[in-house]
Amino acid sequence: MKDPLLIFDTTLRDGEQSPGASMTREEKVRIARQLEKLRVDVIEAGFPAASNGDFESVKAVAEAIKDCTVAALCRTSDKDISRALEAIKPARSGRIHTFLATSSIHMEKKLRMTPSEVITAAVNAVRFARNHIADIEFSCEDAGRSEIDFLCRIIEAVIKEGATVINIPDTVGYNVPEQYAERIVQLRERIPNSDKVIWSVHCHNDLGLAVANSLAAVMAGARQVECTINGLGERAGNASLEEIVMAVRTRQDIFPCDTRIDSTQILSASKLVSGITGFPVQPNKAIVGANAFSHEAGIHQDGVLKHRETYEIMRAEDVGWNANKLVLGKHSGRTAFRARLKELGIEVESEQVLNSAFARFKELADKKHDIFDEDLHALMSDEAVTPEQEHYRLISTRFHSETGETPHANITLAVGGNEHRAEADGSGPVDAAFKAIESVAKSGADLLLFSVNSITTGTDAQGEVTVRLAMDGRIVNGQGADTDIIVASAKAYLNALNKLYSTRERLSPQV
Ligand code: KIV
Ligand code: ZN
Repeated sequence: MKDPLLIFDTTLRDGEQSPGASMTREEKVRIARQLEKLRVDVIEAGFPAASNGDFESVKAVAEAIKDCTVAALCRTSDKDISRALEAIKPARSGRIHTFLATSSIHMEKKLRMTPSEVITAAVNAVRFARNHIADIEFSCEDAGRSEIDFLCRIIEAVIKEGATVINIPDTVGYNVPEQYAERIVQLRERIPNSDKVIWSVHCHNDLGLAVANSLAAVMAGARQVECTINGLGERAGNASLEEIVMAVRTRQDIFPCDTRIDSTQILSASKLVSGITGFPVQPNKAIVGANAFSHEAGIHQDGVLKHRETYEIMRAEDVGWNANKLVLGKHSGRTAFRARLKELGIEVESEQVLNSAFARFKELADKKHDIFDEDLHALMSDEAVTPEQEHYRLISTRFHSETGETPHANITLAVGGNEHRAEADGSGPVDAAFKAIESVAKSGADLLLFSVNSITTGTDAQGEVTVRLAMDGRIVNGQGADTDIIVASAKAYLNALNKLYSTRERLSPQV
């Protein structure tokens, strides 16, 4: 019988630390429900002390999720831990995840604490948490660059105090597989009470080694991997969940453990996270990229047709490809619409929201024959925006674009309830639309990213546009979806402006 390998998903916490990837509470709950379907063991729902918004999101996830442990991140202060405890109180199974930096550079330059002060703070934190909860994870931030002797001292002390999971983050993505695995071996061998805990790894991808390092650590005895959908996360991201899971599953001949993940839910999770955050998945991304299972070279195609395993080590359907079900169409009724939303884990708050979503669904079904799950997710993301969050709203558009002529946009917007009209020329219709909007909004925001993806296949697919804007040190992503990509672009720009307009605070736990 193989050991279980626990999958700790931190898309909602570390993933959200990607610039511009912030998610609303409703979006987080939706992702958490998909993670539950995927059967991850632990969902790290956020960092409750960072902001009221984070607190409320963690609480909402703790209320919604039944089959996974819900973890909350906190620093080592009693105040942080208490806030995290309160947020996960509704969870059937909750975990406190407390962390403190252990590398010399972090202790000296960031924390300005001596090594013995760091040990005391860590021990006190675990002791405090232990009085309230049994499941406690302690992370040695920047463990990948920490002195091994110091790691042994602090880890032995926190295990004595009651920590049940010890996490060894490669916070800055500095390690290489052999060296990182050796670190895990050393810690497990040298710490006398090391057999009392689950060893966990958390690798960042600065050198593109997060998955390789995590897997090397699993070979060395780690039995929990912290990872994110699509490898989302701070800077270059975290280890990608889908790659970890499928590597372990595909190479059962060498791994001494396996996960309980339902791999057929991987693609839906990837699409959901990409749609909500606006971070597109590169076509050649392993497992979930559009080309991951397509064979271009004639020799390869010939081989696959004769015997699939000549060039395929995994089956596309095992990770959810080809499961793109046609769900609804023009003739579908309200009951079918509501039932499908429920199956997708989308809670509709009121009859009013349902009515308005259904009206938009009908509008879309008139333009686009086949409505897929991805279309419903995009539609409901739009619907989740409340009138208070919609300072700017698109009323109508008219564009002129013709060979040899300057593209021109006429836009009508509602700004705080008042109607404004604007027009502008641009180098293309999208540029003209953005200029027209800016002539009214006058935000002065910098456009950092503009990307268009088709939500499903076919020329009638909705285009999903992401616009990333930066203003006064804040970075936000706006999304818009429509069968007309210029309209989708205008909606995405306005969605980003609305986010900048809202005063939602956001702190990074690693600041
Ligand atoms: O990268 C890191 O060190 C972290 C910790 C808070 C676990 O995200
Ligand atoms: Zn991290």
